[in-house]
Amino acid sequence: MAEPAERIRREFAPQAEVEEAARAMEVFAKTHGSEGRRVVLITSGGTKVPLESRTVRFLDNFSSGRRGAASAEYFLQAGYAVIFLHRHRSMYPYSRRYTAVNWLDALQIVPAPQTDSALTEPKLKVEADQTNLPGIVGVLKDYQSIKGSGRLLPVEFNTLSDYLHLLLAAAKALSPLGANAMFYLAAAVSDFYIPASEMPEHKIQSSSGPLQITMKMVPKMLSPLVKDWAPKAFVISFKLETDPSILIERARKALETYRHQVVVANVLDTRRSYVVVVTDVSESKLSVSDDEETRGVEIEHKIVDDLTSRHSSFIEGLQ
Ligand code: PMT
Repeated sequence: MAEPAERIRREFAPQAEVEEAARAMEVFAKTHGSEGRRVVLITSGGTKVPLESRTVRFLDNFSSGRRGAASAEYFLQAGYAVIFLHRHRSMYPYSRRYTAVNWLDALQIVPAPQTDSALTEPKLKVEADQTNLPGIVGVLKDYQSIKGSGRLLPVEFNTLSDYLHLLLAAAKALSPLGANAMFYLAAAVSDFYIPASEMPEHKIQSSSGPLQITMKMVPKMLSPLVKDWAPKAFVISFKLETDPSILIERARKALETYRHQVVVANVLDTRRSYVVVVTDVSESKLSVSDDEETRGVEIEHKIVDDLTSRHSSFIEGLQ
C-alpha cells in the first residue's frame, strides 16, 4: 500500500469496529466474486468531523444519503451485490421511503387469535395501517427477498476517520475482483479536519471569545484508490457544486487528475432531477421530468441504468 494508506493509519484514529467490518467485506467480496457476480461499493451520506476529542461539537454537511440508498436498490435490482458504506442513521435502502413516517401512528394493537385456554391472558399483536405506509407490502417483499439473497452488506461509519479506514478496507476486499468491482462514491466527504494531536481535549469554552480554528486538508482518496488500491476496478466519483457554470469544468478536472472512469456531476438545488454523466469522451445529461416524477421515477434509476451498461463495456474492454 502506498503512502496515503500509512497517513490514514497514522493520523486518523478509527472509532468503529473497522476490523470486523473489513473481514465481513472480504468474505462478502470473495463469495460473490467466486459466483461471477459484480460487486459495487456505494458510499453514502455525510461525514462528521469532531472539533474536540471529547466531542461536543462537530462539523457536518447537508447529505441525507438518499442518492446512495436509492442507488443501492437499483443496483440490487440489476443483479449486483452491494456493500452499502453509509453514515449512521442516514437513509437506508427500502426503509428510506418511510423516514418521514411516525411509526407509532402507523401501527395498531389488535387481538391475536386465541389458541390457549380461556384462562390465559388474551394475546395481542401489532398490525400496520397501510394508508400511513404507502406501498409497504411491495417494499417489504423486496427488502425481505434481498435480505434472504445475501446480496446486501450494510457497513456504517460516523466520523471522517471511520469513513477513511473503511474505504481503504473495502478497496482491499474488492481489488481481487478486478473489473467486476465498481466504486460508486456518492458520500459527501469532508475536505477538512483537525488532526488528533491538535484537537483540544475538552469542550471549547465560549468564554474564550470568538472561535478561530485552522483545519488541515483531508487526503483525496480517489488518487490512491485508482492508482494503487483497486487499479482494475470501475470507479465513479461524484462532483457537487452550487454554481452550475463551473460544474462540467470541475468534473473534467477530476477525471484528468484522478484518471478514473466516470464523474457524475450534480448541482445542489437540482440534484434530484438532473445530473450529467461525464467521461473522458462524453457528457450524457440525465433528467427526470415533472410527469416522470409524479409517476415515481427517480433519477437514481436512470443513473444506475447508465452506469451498469458502461460497466459492461468496461468489463468487455470497450471503455
Ligand atoms: O445524499 P443526498 O442528499 O442524496 O445528496 C447526494 C450528493 C449531492 C451528496 C451526491 O450526489 C454527491 O454529489 N456526492 C459527492 C459530493 C462531494 O462531496 O463532492 P466533492 O467534490 O467534495 O468530492 C468529489 C469526489 O471525491 C466524491 O466522489 C468523494 O467521494 C471523493 N472524495 C472526497 C473527499 C476525499 N477526501 N476523498 C475523496 O475521494
